[in-house]
Amino acid sequence: MRRPLVVGNWKMNGRSASVARLLNDILAGIGDCKAEVGVCVPFVYIPQASEILKGTKVMLGAQNVADHNSGAFTGEISAGMLREFGCELVIVGHSERRLLYGESNELVASRYEQAIQGHLKPILCVGETLEQREQGRTLAVIGAQIDTVFEFAGVQSLEHAVIAYEPVWAVGTGRSATTGQAQEVHYHIRSLIARWNPEVAQAVQIIYGGSVKPENSAELFAMPDIDGGLIGGASLDARAFLSICHSVS
Ligand code: G3H
Repeated sequence: MRRPLVVGNWKMNGRSASVARLLNDILAGIGDCKAEVGVCVPFVYIPQASEILKGTKVMLGAQNVADHNSGAFTGEISAGMLREFGCELVIVGHSERRLLYGESNELVASRYEQAIQGHLKPILCVGETLEQREQGRTLAVIGAQIDTVFEFAGVQSLEHAVIAYEPVWAVGTGRSATTGQAQEVHYHIRSLIARWNPEVAQAVQIIYGGSVKPENSAELFAMPDIDGGLIGGASLDARAFLSICHSVS
């Protein structure tokens, strides 16, 4: 049985005072939440967040990781560095990285592999643009994104990873995928993995991201192949984020 997972992606938001406030508010309200819960904060706030979250059930994560473990890679942060400051999770291949910073499937797969080797749990983001959806290429695009990762790190690596389906047209737009649209793609992703390894396919958490809010989270999370959410905007508001966390059944 897969445990639901809800992760906040704060993106490039916050200052030290608001980081402390938001984390403490989340801790105060998390109670007996049935989901695993995590927050992916900006790199510079990781030490601060690590202190606040130490010994709690809220996992700490980063929003990206280097594709090498050390060396002359200016501006990059390695998996080992993130582990040293208490990170358990890391987002790789977010659509903003792919589209705004040109990260290819191969670069994302290298980052994913580094996360696995560094004992971080990668949250591999996949998803199609509106244009790709309208051309009927959704499943092919996502298949290529996932296949490249399998080629680099093997399907077995998914035992230590999470997949996040985030349709690009739903990220930050207020327009979520319908439960039917999301479930269809989640089912496809699980079937694709099952062709390689049915046990891994049944065990891997596949979460949905893209305009998840308290008003639609319960309905999305009730779908058979949707195991939780990757939450952007709504994760910056403790009350909204907690409401989403508590909406898992
Ligand atoms: O990583 C989170 C996603 O980009 C979703 O963002 O909830 O603001 O649409 P959003």
